[in-house]
Amino acid sequence: MKSTAVEQAVQTDSPAELRRHLFYETSHSPTLADLVGYEKAKTIIDFCFIANPYYPTAAMLEDLQRNLPNLIKSYPTSNPLMSQKSLAAVLGVDPERLIIGNGATELITLIDMTLIDRIAVPIPTFGEYIEKMKDQRDAELYALDPERGYELRLDDYLAWVHERNLECLVVINPGNPTGQFIPRDEMTDFLHRARDLELVIVDESFIDFAGDPIPSLLPVADQFTNLLIVRSMSKHCGVPGLRLGYCYSANLFVLNRLRRFLPTWNLNTLAQYFLSLLPPTNDEYHEARKRLIGDVRWLEGALRGIPSIDVYPTGANFVLFKVRNGMPATELQARLLAEHQMYVRDCSNKLGMDALHIRVASQGREKDARLVEALSSLMR
Ligand SMILES: Cc1ncc(COP(=O)(O)O)c(C=O)c1O
Repeated sequence: MKSTAVEQAVQTDSPAELRRHLFYETSHSPTLADLVGYEKAKTIIDFCFIANPYYPTAAMLEDLQRNLPNLIKSYPTSNPLMSQKSLAAVLGVDPERLIIGNGATELITLIDMTLIDRIAVPIPTFGEYIEKMKDQRDAELYALDPERGYELRLDDYLAWVHERNLECLVVINPGNPTGQFIPRDEMTDFLHRARDLELVIVDESFIDFAGDPIPSLLPVADQFTNLLIVRSMSKHCGVPGLRLGYCYSANLFVLNRLRRFLPTWNLNTLAQYFLSLLPPTNDEYHEARKRLIGDVRWLEGALRGIPSIDVYPTGANFVLFKVRNGMPATELQARLLAEHQMYVRDCSNKLGMDALHIRVASQGREKDARLVEALSSLMR
């Protein structure tokens, strides 16, 4: 069996070096397979990476398994239109206005490299918008105030962007890692006031968990030619390993520029096949989505009952909290892993955040209840 990154590194690195490699060389967390190997990873509950536990359904997974040998032996199509049509059918949008990427991260890299000279980014945030700029100094960081719960206030943000003569900004809604949700009417007002900007990126990777109906900007997007919506499918469709994300814009110039630089065959056959399953399983998808929304509400409430942690309100499928008993987030993460076989996101390596925040993604009511129990025992 192939050795894991940990096993390979252990041969040369001290434990401190190893921890630095895995946790601090990128702004992302190591996978459980990196940390403990593929087999042991199955015995640990992953609250760190964010993915819908109820979708794809068991029948879809069986279908994918059945088709795997053939899919692996086939080339993906070089024409993405069929996949765009499948996705457009469930989103209710024009397929020509979609670009599908190998994860939203591929598209964010492309956006940073081809469309942007300078960009405003509120922090703490998902790091790729900053890290994939040609020069990271061209990302102008708008530091959210910890005393105000890292709340993004759109008016203040836009005034700051105008003051600095920036032409491009990003808003992640709901925010990662905060979970802050901004309702659609506020976002629409903001878009009207930001019409003078060249590009407004709204990342809606978690919007499917913000309410029912989904309060996305997709239905109004065609009114704003400077708007580019980015969405990861890893989280709401529960398929981070397939690498799927997309962007939508009414601006064909922007779309064509991105398309020009997208590698041919960027989507693998398994991902393309999965997209073809979306229309026939759309009802199951929405059931799964609403079930998870219920679970997150429960998790948020239960976490509020634990002394010594401060819980942030969430519109996403995860909850952020601050540890108040003096235990650093790194220690709490390590203890949950060692003593309870649970993996949570220590947010200490997020730019603009202190060393006391943990983010947990809902893994369904039963596992979430075990997490609440474990945390309660550690916070006593
Ligand atoms: C806000 C946000 N956007 C985009 C992504 C990228 O997701 P992926 O590349 O898995 O589609 C993430 C992943 O955590 C995210 O948090």
